[in-house]
Amino acid sequence: MVDVQSSTLTLGLVGTGVMGRGIAQLAAQAGITVRLFDARPQAADEARASIASMLDSLAAKGRLSPEAALAATARLEPVPQELSLAGCHVVVEAIVEDLRVKQELFTRLEGIVGPDCLLATNTSSLSVTAIASACERPGRVGGFHFFNPVPLMKVVEVIEGARTEPWVGEALVTLALRLGHRPVRAADTPGFIVNHAGRGFGTEALRILQEGVASFADIDRVLREAAGFRMGPFELLDLTGLDVSHPVMESVYEQFYQEPRFRPSYVLRQRLTAGLLGRKSGQGFYSHEGGKPHVEP
Ligand code: NAI
Repeated sequence: MVDVQSSTLTLGLVGTGVMGRGIAQLAAQAGITVRLFDARPQAADEARASIASMLDSLAAKGRLSPEAALAATARLEPVPQELSLAGCHVVVEAIVEDLRVKQELFTRLEGIVGPDCLLATNTSSLSVTAIASACERPGRVGGFHFFNPVPLMKVVEVIEGARTEPWVGEALVTLALRLGHRPVRAADTPGFIVNHAGRGFGTEALRILQEGVASFADIDRVLREAAGFRMGPFELLDLTGLDVSHPVMESVYEQFYQEPRFRPSYVLRQRLTAGLLGRKSGQGFYSHEGGKPHVEP
């Protein structure tokens, strides 16, 4: 059992991309020491610098005291190898959305961390049960699914796999509250809540586009202005990244035994193949060069 309320809690964060940075920032602000590890050399250092600058800008806007920003930055410790995660009380992974790669990571982590360490996955769509099945002790593995951008999206799905021990779900709920987020429990089913309902929203919008009913910008506009969504489906795809969204859609589709309503779209796959990943690459459905997303003439 892990005491996630402890003032000496140390959290390992594996995969310091978009999501990992957000989770690390929250944890550091909540007084938790965070060890940052990424397979790409320099990525953990870059993540620390990027979070530090985010904290500085919060301090400049008066949303955080300069002392709190400095203290949070001091809690971020980039580490050069997985072995340096020994001694962590909780490890959260936010690496690539690939079942085999996540299973291999957790198998290696079991040989590094202590017997009481909780292992959590930020997977969007993979089965927590399947990730845990590679572990000697699947009971300590749980799902901890945040949303992008993590500091602003104050809700997190907590998922117990078929063999997750009850203390893990309880600990993740308590940890979410410590991070200032609202935990929502979801069963370990394809896509949990958001990628079950939300991917349907995305795939249906892609179908409307494929059928030539309207342009992607008009579909976004109507769903925003008439249906009350904060973002249209194509704006959301660009924000999440097509490289993240398409595999999630494929995974949910396969896990529901190819249920037609979840069928992914060739329109999305084609853009992905072309390297049009969304905000991160400067162009997805919208162009993101030079500020506000806009439609290329
Ligand atoms: P990202 O591509 O921004 O970051 C992934 C990071 O993991 C990269 O820095 C990469 O170098 C590193 N990495 C890859 N394999 C690794 C390994 N074996 N060991 C250590 N580091 C490794 O991806 P992003 O968007 O942060 O997504 C990460 C995870 O979070 C995925 O499972 C994704 O499905 C999930 N997720 C993503 C959301 C989004 O909106 N982007 C929302 C919720 C969950």
